[in-house]
Amino acid sequence: MKTAGPGAGNYESFYREFDSPRMRQFRRDAYGEDIGQHSWVDADELRGDIPRLGLSPSSRLLDLGCGPCGPLTFILASVGCHGVGLEQSPAALQIGRERAASLGIEALLSVQVADLNEPLPFEPRSFDAAISIDVILHLRDRQQFFLEVAKLLRPGGRFLVTDAGVLTGSVSNEEKRKRNFHGHTQCVAAGWNEELLESAGFRLIETENRTASAERNASGRLAALQKHPAELEKQQEYLETVIGLSRRGAVSRFMYLADVREPAAT
Ligand SMILES: C[S@@+](CC[C@H](N)C(=O)[O-])C[C@H]1O[C@@H](n2cnc3c(N)ncnc32)[C@H](O)[C@@H]1O
Repeated sequence: MKTAGPGAGNYESFYREFDSPRMRQFRRDAYGEDIGQHSWVDADELRGDIPRLGLSPSSRLLDLGCGPCGPLTFILASVGCHGVGLEQSPAALQIGRERAASLGIEALLSVQVADLNEPLPFEPRSFDAAISIDVILHLRDRQQFFLEVAKLLRPGGRFLVTDAGVLTGSVSNEEKRKRNFHGHTQCVAAGWNEELLESAGFRLIETENRTASAERNASGRLAALQKHPAELEKQQEYLETVIGLSRRGAVSRFMYLADVREPAAT
């Protein structure tokens, strides 16, 4: 089996323990409903996003940076379509396979270890829709990444991406250090993702400020960690920083929905 990519940071070690009874209880306490996520998304946000993707049971959905496949398996179970998850952490993908089996949807899910900083391993126009939840802030060249995703989608195919690192105020060096808990992290100016999506061949349909969900779920995670002192010690500073930056409106989380422009008629 391939090992985790160089940008795995502390995700890989975290994922080895991800599905223990203790961690499941932690997610129930933190998010209210455990869908196997490791991000700022919760079940209600995802329920609201599924119709945005325009999926049917015959669709093929790509999840870029799927982690342990929580949001991906949630969508597959709800729509009945096929999904492919790309992720750098083999431990996360193993958990994803087990999750799909426990939901009885293993035939709908394929997963593959991949580094999203590299060209993506599929033929052009292989997918009807794509998602990437709270991942792009870890990538080194999001312009290249958006170009790759546009190539893999059929014309009109939808892409829903969230970015929890949009700069909407001032951030100190100290705050940056504490926020970068998961390794390489790039924050971008407000408006930058929109420009890059358009220049990669997407048509922007909708953007939504979802900073409230980052603040709510970071607060839920911080409260749930009170029962786990060893973990609390590791994550307290990070979660408090996310909460503070969100409340101040200095770093925001945005959702972008776009589709691939149809080729111009000749
Ligand atoms: C905040 S987690 C989100 C996981 C999942 N999307 C979810 O919502 O539960 C970010 C994920 O991006 C993955 N990731 C970061 N950089 C990556 C890269 N260069 N290639 C592939 N995956 C990457 C991490 O391993 C991690 O699983």
